[in-house]
Formats: sequence, C-alpha cells, structure tokens
Amino acid sequence: MPGLDYVAPVATRRDRRPEALPLDPGVLREGAVCEFQSDLAVAAHGGTVVQPWRDRFLAAEAAGLEVVPSAHEIPDTEFDQVVVHLQKSRAASFEDLREAWRILRPGGQLLFAGPNTLGIVSAVKRLAAQLGQSPVIVSNRARARVVRFVKDAGPAPTLEEEGNRTFATALDPIHGDPFEFELETRPGVFSARKLDAGSQFLLEALPGHVGHKPPARIVDLGCGTGVLGIAAALLWPESQVLLADADARAVECARANIERLGLGERCRVVWWDAREPPPDSRFGLALVNPPFHRRGMDVDLGPALALFASLESWIKPGARALLVANRTLPYERPLSEIGELETLRAARGYKLLSLKRRARSARSRGRRSPGARSGGRTNAPIRSR
Ligand SMILES: C[S@@+](CC[C@H](N)C(=O)[O-])C[C@H]1O[C@@H](n2cnc3c(N)ncnc32)[C@H](O)[C@@H]1O
Repeated sequence: MPGLDYVAPVATRRDRRPEALPLDPGVLREGAVCEFQSDLAVAAHGGTVVQPWRDRFLAAEAAGLEVVPSAHEIPDTEFDQVVVHLQKSRAASFEDLREAWRILRPGGQLLFAGPNTLGIVSAVKRLAAQLGQSPVIVSNRARARVVRFVKDAGPAPTLEEEGNRTFATALDPIHGDPFEFELETRPGVFSARKLDAGSQFLLEALPGHVGHKPPARIVDLGCGTGVLGIAAALLWPESQVLLADADARAVECARANIERLGLGERCRVVWWDAREPPPDSRFGLALVNPPFHRRGMDVDLGPALALFASLESWIKPGARALLVANRTLPYERPLSEIGELETLRAARGYKLLSLKRRARSARSRGRRSPGARSGGRTNAPIRSR
C-alpha cells in the first residue's frame, strides 16, 4: 500500500525493546505462538499475529506473517502458547487476555508482557487475582517483564468493568425537537465510557453550521464509535455517510452501532489508515476529531497531520471539513495549506475549525505536505481528552 513503510519484524535475543522480551531464552516453547499487539515472537516461532491497527497489520502481512485484525477469527483452544503485550488501555488489555485464555489449550502458557511505564506490575497483580494463580516471572530486564500463567480449569480473565458500555448523545436539529441516541463503546475504542467533550463541542455546532442544505455525501475520518458520522446520518436522512478508522476495534464498534440504529442502508464503515489513499472521494463534508498520541510531555501530531494530508483527496474542491481540537494544538498552519481556515468557535478548552478546500491547493502547487516542517511534534500544553 503506497505511503506505508514496511519493516520486517526482526529481533535479536538481547533486543532491548520491551516487546522483544518474550524472545529471551526459556520463555517461549517450541512451536507456534499467537501474539497480540506485536509480531516479534511470531516472526521467530511462527503462528498468528492479532493486530487491530491497520498500519501494523499491513506491515506484518507484507513481512509474510499470518495476521488477523481480531482474535474472534481464531477458534477455541487453538494454541499451546499465547503472548499478550500490555497496551495503554487497561480494558483493551484485559479483553485481549480474555480472548487469549479462550484460544489456549488446557496446560498451555499465557505470557503477559509489558514495560513498567505502562503498569505491567499492577496489571499482573490484577490478572493473578482473577485467575487465582501465582505468576512466574520468566524475563525481567530493560524496565519490562514477562510473566507466565498456565491455563487450568479455574476462572478466566475478566474485563475491569463488565457493566454498561453505552452512552447517550444529544442532538438539537434546526427543525424538529432535540433528541438523543445511544451508542455502544468497546474496550480500546476512543471515548470508552462517555461522549468525548471535543466530539460534543463539534456536535453542538453541527446542525447550525451545515444548515438546511446538507451535502449528499459526508465522511467521518477517525470515526471511533461512529458518533460524528451517525449523528450526521440521523440529522440528515437524505445523506450517505462513510466512516473510516485505522483501528479494527473501532470499525467493528461503529458497524455495530450503525446496525443497531437501523442506518445500514446509508452508512458504511471502512478500515483505513490515514497514510493510505482514500478508498473514495468527492465528499461534500468531512467531520474530524483528529487523533494524537502523547509521548511523555510531548504530543505526537503525526496521525493528525497524516489525516489532514489526506483531506484534500476525500473532499471536493470548495467542500468543507469541520474539525474539533484542544485549543492549544497547532493545527492552523498545516490546515491553512489546504484551504481557507476559519475558527468558528473557541470555548471550554476547545476550538472548532472550518476548512474550505481550495480549488487547487498549495500542496498541489508544489509545497510539502501539511505540517511537514514541524515533524509532527509539539509540547503545547493540552487538556486530557
Ligand atoms: C480522537 S478519536 C475520535 C473518535 C470519534 N470521531 C469521536 O469523536 O469520538 C480519533 C480516532 O482516530 C483513529 N485513528 C488514529 N490514528 C489513525 C490513523 N492513522 N488513520 C485513521 N484513523 C486513525 C483512532 O482509532 C480514533 O478512533
């Protein structure tokens, strides 16, 4: 796929990356392994990678590995050993652990790996309590560890909060009464328990901004649960909506929400990474709550900038994108390279930006991609979202 860099997963036994620890002597047994959220053990031993992030999925596939976006595709008791790498989202990690337990044969080993900075010690403690087992530490270096549990007939891992995973979203259309709709969330999907304050900020302005003549085709980029695209579909019953996200869990979640709300005829969800060419084009409106990643004190704007760079290919000349962001995030310069930028509203720590695509952009006149000069990093203070 153009635009994505493929790096074959290679690791030596003394590789200091936390994700390489399962390759330490005596950790893995002979034979195939199933590995969640990384692919180094599978590259070394064979087996199946579970990778919901599209760029890493494509990289594993290009390196010739067997890879699936979700463990739901793997039958029960398929593997003798499974490695789960701890993620930032504790709920997503315990969802992985639950699936790992399901696909393990009795007597098989569950290896749980992660760096101290992500909280592997407390995550292991919680898992040990759930399983009623004492973990064996099988590797402990590079400020990370791998622990071993053995599948027995005892209890399985459980999610931290098994309870209600739905939230209500209110909309106030220009015509008609305000109404609410309910969305389901999933572990690891953005805005896990409630509507994100930034998304709400955008939704409050959406009906008034679009007005009485909604575009026939709307796209929601980085859709998460699908909240923005679904709101647009509910507000404007004549419009078709495409939703896109790089995380297969978000794609699954948005699809489930669309089906539950009976919007399947007009809404479609695609698994797409911002560095891939858009699978469709000529939309009349794009809705975006851009992704960003925190790296210590810094914020990595790379994913947002990649998404901005693709905007031109998604929307028609003269069409608009509506974007919400933390007020301090420096999105103005990269976005101004694409079109006319206007700040519609700034309040409660957020800003709402409207971008009108030029007929012929600065970029297509030979400039570098939006934000290329900044390298995509900022240490501007941002409110936690
Ligand atoms: C801030 S969340 C917004 C989610 C949703 N639109 C909302 O308002 O709740 C950003 C979304 O972008 C997705 N994302 C992150 N990196 C991406 C990429 N490279 N390409 C496409 N989507 C990406 C994330 O999975 C996440 O769902």
